Amino acid sequence: MIKSKRKFPSLPYFWSLIDFSLPSLNPYKGKIARAQNIADIVKVAKKRVPKVVFDYVEGSAVEEVSYRRQRECWDRVEINSKVLRDVSNIDTSEMILGKNVDLPIFFSPTGYTRLMHHVGEPAVANVAAKKNLIYGLSTMGTTSPAELAAAVSNSRRWFQLYVMKNREDSLSVIKQAKDSGFEALILTVDTPVAGLRYRDNRNGLTIPPRIRLNTVLAIARKPVWWLNLFTTGKLEFAAFRGWNKPLSELASVIFDPSTTFADIKWLKSVWDGPIIVKGIQSVEDAKEVAKLGVAGIILSNHGGRQFDRGPVPLEILPDVVKAVGKKVEIYIDGAIMSGLDALAAIALGAKAVFIGRAYLYGIMADGEAGVEKVIELMRREFVNGMALSGSRNLKEVRATGAKIRS
Ligand SMILES: Cc1cc2nc3c(=O)[nH]c(=O)nc-3n(C[C@H](O)[C@H](O)[C@H](O)COP(=O)(O)O)c2cc1C
Repeated sequence: MIKSKRKFPSLPYFWSLIDFSLPSLNPYKGKIARAQNIADIVKVAKKRVPKVVFDYVEGSAVEEVSYRRQRECWDRVEINSKVLRDVSNIDTSEMILGKNVDLPIFFSPTGYTRLMHHVGEPAVANVAAKKNLIYGLSTMGTTSPAELAAAVSNSRRWFQLYVMKNREDSLSVIKQAKDSGFEALILTVDTPVAGLRYRDNRNGLTIPPRIRLNTVLAIARKPVWWLNLFTTGKLEFAAFRGWNKPLSELASVIFDPSTTFADIKWLKSVWDGPIIVKGIQSVEDAKEVAKLGVAGIILSNHGGRQFDRGPVPLEILPDVVKAVGKKVEIYIDGAIMSGLDALAAIALGAKAVFIGRAYLYGIMADGEAGVEKVIELMRREFVNGMALSGSRNLKEVRATGAKIRS
């Protein structure tokens, strides 16, 4: 039997192994620093904001079947792998609307970001600027286009628009976007009417949150979040200052159920930059909007927050790419929670992906630093996945391909 030779313990060796660092005053910082994936960030986010806020982000429509299906579909993707390729240099850059980005992962427009963290939209746009990515500002943002441009003048920014009941309202925000240097318009088309969000209704979500008797308990549970709410700018929809009725009522002003393809033609007549249509859910509609000369399509069903029995965007991605991918840039979103999900989308032909909840978990967990952490975690997985599947750039990722296991 082989035995180790014993010796007297060496003090210098013992000291060299000691790693006592002082704990941070913010108990969440350590958890975020140690986070390995978005799921670890979600755990912190949940602890830092009131339940009504967390539910608003995490929740989907009706029974939330669509969200679960999307999530489950990403897990079924198998990326083809090649070995014995020299992968010592990995290039994740891509050309989007004629300009270079460093990683094909962008920030989806999401409303009310200052509800998740008091800095809100500018914090996310600043990460986009630092990382050379694209930020989508929502019509329902808590920061106006002009405020965002002033706060982060160097970010590549696209403005998300709803065709509103009163077209003059749409025109006024389009003008704001143009005057504030927004590069493209994202027209969201999966919202003829508001989705049924049972969680928000049960929680009685309003913007800003109303102070009711039970809110006092909520304040006691998340004092820092509430302190930030009371000590920073008024929380309101920047485009609809003064509105504090239930979300469902606001939605009936913003969404126009009579919107049709003709409105895309109208939009082209009032906006001379690129138009990206968000919320396409069929090959037929993709072909229809491509004919109208849009620059891009985001295959999306609003992360399952609108129609709870709609198709899974990922399942139609290869067919849409085949049908119109040469004419328009095809992006996708919905339940993307890792760099490998993003890589899977690229391998199936997408030009880039958008994330919504993933970065919102980051901002809830730790503001701008949390968003940055989310991007870095996703980038690490993306780069690692590229190397392990034998691709050096996104062209090779697409050529290598992937399949969705049944
Ligand atoms: C809290 C929240 C608010 C959102 N607000 C908007 C919005 O104002 N306009 C819009 O087009 N999409 C909105 N979306 C949908 C996102 O742009 C995106 O389609 C969706 O989040 C993608 O799914 P994921 O969150 O699972 O990544 C919102 C999503 C979330 C989670």
